Amino acid sequence: MAHKLVEPHGGKLVDRTGHKPDATAPKVSIPLTEWQQCDLEMIGIGAMSPLEGFMGEADYNGVCDNMKLASGATWSIPIPLAVDDATAGKVGVGDRVQLNDDQGRLLGYITVKEKYRQDKKKCATKAFGTEDVAHPGVKNLMTSGDTCLAGPIDVVTLRHNPMFTSHRLTPKQTRAEFEKRGWKTIVAFQTRNPIHRAHEYLTKCAQEIVDGLLIHPLMGATKDGDIPPEVRMKCYEVLIEKYYHHEHTMLAVMPAAMRYAGPKECVLHAILRQNYGCSHFIVGRDHAGVGTYYGTYAAQETMDSLPPGSLKITPLKFENTAWSKAAGGMVSDKTFPAIEGDRIALSGTKVREMLASGQRPPVEFSRPEVADILIEFYRQQK
Ligand code: ADX
Repeated sequence: MAHKLVEPHGGKLVDRTGHKPDATAPKVSIPLTEWQQCDLEMIGIGAMSPLEGFMGEADYNGVCDNMKLASGATWSIPIPLAVDDATAGKVGVGDRVQLNDDQGRLLGYITVKEKYRQDKKKCATKAFGTEDVAHPGVKNLMTSGDTCLAGPIDVVTLRHNPMFTSHRLTPKQTRAEFEKRGWKTIVAFQTRNPIHRAHEYLTKCAQEIVDGLLIHPLMGATKDGDIPPEVRMKCYEVLIEKYYHHEHTMLAVMPAAMRYAGPKECVLHAILRQNYGCSHFIVGRDHAGVGTYYGTYAAQETMDSLPPGSLKITPLKFENTAWSKAAGGMVSDKTFPAIEGDRIALSGTKVREMLASGQRPPVEFSRPEVADILIEFYRQQK
């Protein structure tokens, strides 16, 4: 008997993949940006259920204004297909448009049900909490087209030459794998970084109360300066191999684009993981944040503000954690009192400096095997 996993957001797992190329190619084809290709894949595989395509205006506005789709389901960041005016001028409502990757290869189609002007300022303020174009997500939004094409998609090819094929599991596949392993409760861990000791601590604390841990790094578009996916993958593999219990740990990659939208992205990340079949989701400090745009616990507060029952996945909230010399282990303000100079908390800049100069950060901050992979990466950058 199959175990019952958490139901997909909106009740049904969408699948827009497996379409054959149209017999007659549509008149208009659009090259998708890297970010849009990630969205296409995420919608196609059902990770963005209940979305069946790119958002229409009612959804766009509902998401900005009330964190809700027009159907009433919770959603926190608009997923539009924004195009430039020249392209928009060639497309009418009812048209079928071919969607290509940035090298002109066919990915799929959109059947255009609606065309509308997006309110970028509103989206920036509501979804990102700032209009500052120094914010990488806002910059992406502000440089995107003004007109959005909305409608269901049909995907022919998710990606040409995708990376990490053995770990690139769709929600259908993660769910099947959870069932196979007999896991009923699964905690998902989102990350866009190599896993350091604080991350490891969160995942293991969470693991204590569920059947399985899904380490689920975001591997779609990220900003310049973030560690590239192939380097991170090496870090995850070496870490899991040596430091995790293989019967209770699974690694899969999530091909989503990173928006750095902090609290609103946290809600999105939780929805996505619910679709992948996870019952719990780790939310630590400054989840999906960048710079100083969001408060340390703003993402947790936003998750708490959702009306009960909005999501079927349960957030597991963690305080800022670091190694305490006095306690001889990982602690937070909840588990050990603060003592001046006691905690090994290094800034991202400091860690980068150490690694770039070939120096391992303390073992209380990073496992040496992970540090060595990063040192090698920075060495090759020079
Ligand atoms: S994120 O953009 O994917 O959120 P990151 O990979 O750094 O960034 O974090 C992954 C998860 O770990 C997030 O839930 C984040 O809040 C949490 N986290 C990272 N570092 C810490 C820490 N020192 N203490 C508590 N939570 C943390």
